[in-house]
Amino acid sequence: MREIFPGIYKWRNKLWTKNLVPGQQVYGERLATFNDIEYREWNPFRSKLAAAIVKKLKHLPLRAGSRVLYLGIAEGTTASHISDIIGKEGVIFGVDISEKCLAKLLQICEARKNIIPVLADANKPESYEAYVKEIKPQILYQDVSQKNQAEIFNKNARLFLKKGAYGLLALKAPSISSTKKPSRVFRKEEKKLLEEFEIIEKIPLSPFEKKHRFYLLRKR
Ligand SMILES: C[S@@+](CC[C@H](N)C(=O)[O-])C[C@H]1O[C@@H](n2cnc3c(N)ncnc32)[C@H](O)[C@@H]1O
Repeated sequence: MREIFPGIYKWRNKLWTKNLVPGQQVYGERLATFNDIEYREWNPFRSKLAAAIVKKLKHLPLRAGSRVLYLGIAEGTTASHISDIIGKEGVIFGVDISEKCLAKLLQICEARKNIIPVLADANKPESYEAYVKEIKPQILYQDVSQKNQAEIFNKNARLFLKKGAYGLLALKAPSISSTKKPSRVFRKEEKKLLEEFEIIEKIPLSPFEKKHRFYLLRKR
């Protein structure tokens, strides 16, 4: 196991994180033990953050103790690996609009105390403002399949991120426009993101996800 980012390891050309809850899988991933430490395989076909790492993301601001606001946490596949990385001192405030997803996520949260699940619309950050302001997130992570993905991201960043804080964003072109060329869609969305952020890195996610780009951004 070779550590490639804080808390993220490579072994046999696969990504792994140290399992915060030894013995428990989240989505049927493989487990492996080295020197009495259990690791979970992180599948880039199931997680856009893992795909971005495999596609050579150069910088990743996540580390032990990080505080993350996660929009579109769904059933917690990616969030469970972030939960491994940030450890017991860190926290994820995870927002999703789907009751069905949240019900599944709640099962994971029973063992992973560093995830706070919240049923809410990321378009309305005022509805969770008071809780998030207490957590003071250092990183905004977003993966929501909505037409106004960039607006949602900017709105949340304006409310919750300090200057210099980081954003991690997965953009899905077909959710924004199913007729325009993805490159045009991304160009237009990037213009909006530049109102609030500097773009540090942008990574196409194929072959793991088609017509998706992953961004590392820094708040202006
Ligand atoms: C592609 S899935 C996220 C997968 C997850 N990030 C992962 O990697 O494990 C997109 C999620 O966004 C959620 N979503 C869509 N619109 C939303 C909104 N307005 N507010 C909050 N969540 C939303 C959906 O319910 C869905 O769970």
